[in-house]
Amino acid sequence: MKNVTLQTNITSLRGTVSIPGDKSISHRSIMFGALAEGETIISNFLAGADCLSTIACFRKLGVAIEEDGPLTRVFGGGMNGLVQPEQLLDVGNSGTTIRLMLGILAGRPFEATLAGDSSIAKRPMTRVVKPLRQMGAIVEGKNNGEFAPLTIRGGKLQGITYELPVASAQIKSAILLAGLQAEGETAVIEPTRTRDHTERMIVQFGGRVERDGNTIKVKGNQSFKAAHIDVPGDISSAAFFMVAAAITKDSEVKLVNVGLNPTRTGIIDCLKQMGANIEVEPVKSDGEPVGNIIVRSSSLKGIEISGELIPRLIDELPIIALLATQAEGETVIKDAAELKVKETNRIDTVAKELSSLGADITPTDDGLIINGGVTLHGGTVSSHGDHRIGMMLAVAGLIARSEMNLLDASAIEVSYPQFFEHLSELIHS
Ligand code: S3P
Repeated sequence: MKNVTLQTNITSLRGTVSIPGDKSISHRSIMFGALAEGETIISNFLAGADCLSTIACFRKLGVAIEEDGPLTRVFGGGMNGLVQPEQLLDVGNSGTTIRLMLGILAGRPFEATLAGDSSIAKRPMTRVVKPLRQMGAIVEGKNNGEFAPLTIRGGKLQGITYELPVASAQIKSAILLAGLQAEGETAVIEPTRTRDHTERMIVQFGGRVERDGNTIKVKGNQSFKAAHIDVPGDISSAAFFMVAAAITKDSEVKLVNVGLNPTRTGIIDCLKQMGANIEVEPVKSDGEPVGNIIVRSSSLKGIEISGELIPRLIDELPIIALLATQAEGETVIKDAAELKVKETNRIDTVAKELSSLGADITPTDDGLIINGGVTLHGGTVSSHGDHRIGMMLAVAGLIARSEMNLLDASAIEVSYPQFFEHLSELIHS
């Protein structure tokens, strides 16, 4: 519950940040490492609270995981290596942990109960529970399985063809993880393409997956071999510094080792469309695409952000809303109703906190309308326990005219424990 007084009205941001590991890829590297045979070695694993929750859950399922300096080692025992946990599996604040673990546990012949913090208890779970039940898993929980705590009893599963009601990589991944253990084939049809880290990791661990347009198919009864995973930096974390550099005068920031998976690079497209001064230098890599990103102070214009772009920048919309307050003209964010079911209702929390700093921002049913070109002032703001709201407000502080206090800044540890350290290294005041 740490509160922080932010440095406001700074002169410039300058320097280089090596971005910590990608959260989505870190979770999946532990999960696939646990399901594979042998020792998986992960470098640049994100030791944020969310991914540590995933490690704690797998330890309770009998998997040995060692944090060995810069490397994380997972000693997988194959699909049948997981054992019934004696205690509840605590996912903390992590939606990815609970939803993907449900997919894994759907195929395991034992009972387990998953629970998390007060935010997790409010997040919708029917979206994964429904297809997993169709495949044969037994799931119980509040409101017929809509909310955690959830108890799942897995076992024999049957492959299904499932059309996702919303564009969500977590639902897609949960179904694929169950499908890998099912009889026959499982097909998931996505309305719009979402992040494909699960599909890539199936291949990296020696499994098979096919994509045909927006349909992803896996055969059941697959087994995996241990792998070496080098986790690229998280573009969703880099986004805070990209925007910070673009909106702060006399700034130039270089972000190194950033994941450039095309299903995640919507923030770069958005910054370019708004007129930002941004350069991307691809770097050779064996796994997911990686590069360095350089952003300088920019004059920006408002745009519309909607449709297929939304899943490619869904987690960046809070910081994009701040960016839009500094752009000339109107920015309209639409088709983003999913923001309502993130760690907080991000349509409401973004609108409330940025309005309190003087922004002209209106929440809508599926997004936000922002009139830019506004000078923000200080005040007391809160992360509401949401890491990305906390980081967005810390960046707002850089350009605020008067003192800003950020309540519940510790939420930031969920995805970026070194955030304030990295930010202070860039600040010149
Ligand atoms: C994630 C998918 C997204 C994203 C979340 C991480 C993942 O959620 O917002 O931060 O790792 O698969 P949805 O699948 O709910 O869109």
